[in-house]
Amino acid sequence: MHEFHYRNNRLYCENIRVEDLAKRFGTPLYLYSYRTLINHFLKLEQAFKSVNPLICYSVKANSNLAILRALVDKGAGLDIVSGGELYRALKAGCSPKKIVYASVGKTEREIEEAIKKGILFFNVESLPELESINRIARRLSRPANVAIRINPDVEPKTHKYITTGKITDKFGIDLKSARQILLMRRAFPNINILGLHIHIGSQITESAPYVAAIKKVALFISSLKKEGINIRYFNIGGGLGIIYDKETPQTAIKFAEKVLPLLKKTGLKIIMEPGRFIVGNSGILVTKVLYIKSILKKKFVIVDSGMNDLIRPALYNAYHSIVPLQANRQTGKPEGSGLPSDRQSHKQVNEKVDIVGPICESGDFFAKDRLLSKVKEGDYLAIMGSGAYGFSMSSNYNSRRRVEEVMVFQNKTFVIRKRESCEDLIRNESIPRFLLGC
Ligand SMILES: Cc1ncc(COP(=O)(O)O)c(C=O)c1O
Repeated sequence: MHEFHYRNNRLYCENIRVEDLAKRFGTPLYLYSYRTLINHFLKLEQAFKSVNPLICYSVKANSNLAILRALVDKGAGLDIVSGGELYRALKAGCSPKKIVYASVGKTEREIEEAIKKGILFFNVESLPELESINRIARRLSRPANVAIRINPDVEPKTHKYITTGKITDKFGIDLKSARQILLMRRAFPNINILGLHIHIGSQITESAPYVAAIKKVALFISSLKKEGINIRYFNIGGGLGIIYDKETPQTAIKFAEKVLPLLKKTGLKIIMEPGRFIVGNSGILVTKVLYIKSILKKKFVIVDSGMNDLIRPALYNAYHSIVPLQANRQTGKPEGSGLPSDRQSHKQVNEKVDIVGPICESGDFFAKDRLLSKVKEGDYLAIMGSGAYGFSMSSNYNSRRRVEEVMVFQNKTFVIRKRESCEDLIRNESIPRFLLGC
């Protein structure tokens, strides 16, 4: 269940009219529903409660401190991929004992900091990385805990840019090499190999790829047992898909039904790293129509947000439902995820338009040839499902200031990130004295 819905033809976030927020805070504006965020987390927790997993929310999906804090408060751990994310995780109040750290390119400095803070474990992605962690742990005289990230070589049936569990991807270690590493574990005296990790991709809508990957790793785990190698954790990663368009992703319960029997058989502590599933449909990007431009064969709706604010359409050709804040008719009928859809919500669909931003790139679009009810300059639109990989992938391209983020809880609003100022844009820049004629 999400908390974006139409009431008397106006889009609401929980109990607040989105248009009021657009006017109050300005646009573009990222808006998050606290209740949606927490509901998604609890849904997963509930579906898997028989194994009491540690759910490490994947910080990269949306790393705002308030989002992290809200989830940590409910018992979430965090999945991080950089020193910056470690900093955020700790600032949000996450216990280091609930932090897992992936990434194929951890630097010495990042590894050192994470060991010093005492994180639960590193998800190790290569032998040289393992050697590096061992060396740093020795220098610090602090043993480091790790899980080996396995590349199970399965096809997750998602966009190729977010496929991470095929053997041609840069992620993880193949089973044969992982076995060799585990057999030579005594060569790494400063490391405890505590677990195995997989993360096969993102926006995965079926359970079959997970089942295939988990089966492979479960077999591997039992073969290790026979060789006297016992591990404690099985981290099954993230990747659960959500509804953007017409997808029919597995629900948390259906997913649990498929994978729980396999996970229970391993007898290991289960860790999960969902990002998109928790935050994706908890956020929208609100934007204002600046101009309507008609040329020979095309009509462009030019809005005040751009690919720097939400890059998913440009990067993955991703689909986002786009709806007006003021509907032409009352719908009350949400699309599968509960999100109002431009396809279902508005019967007066009468224009085919490109919805584009102001940036100097042809890739700066949110929708192409999209049927949209007639809008005019000054109207507001909501780009739905923008909570994950939205703000966290945003940039200052074209010297655009990163936008304000606001969290709604029932009928209250909280600014969780101020809109950047022009001063913020140049904060770390300087002009050398010789250019100033000094
Ligand atoms: C190691 C790891 N875990 C978890 C995630 C979260 O994925 P998702 O947001 O699809 O759940 C990612 C995303 O890339 C990842 O790289």
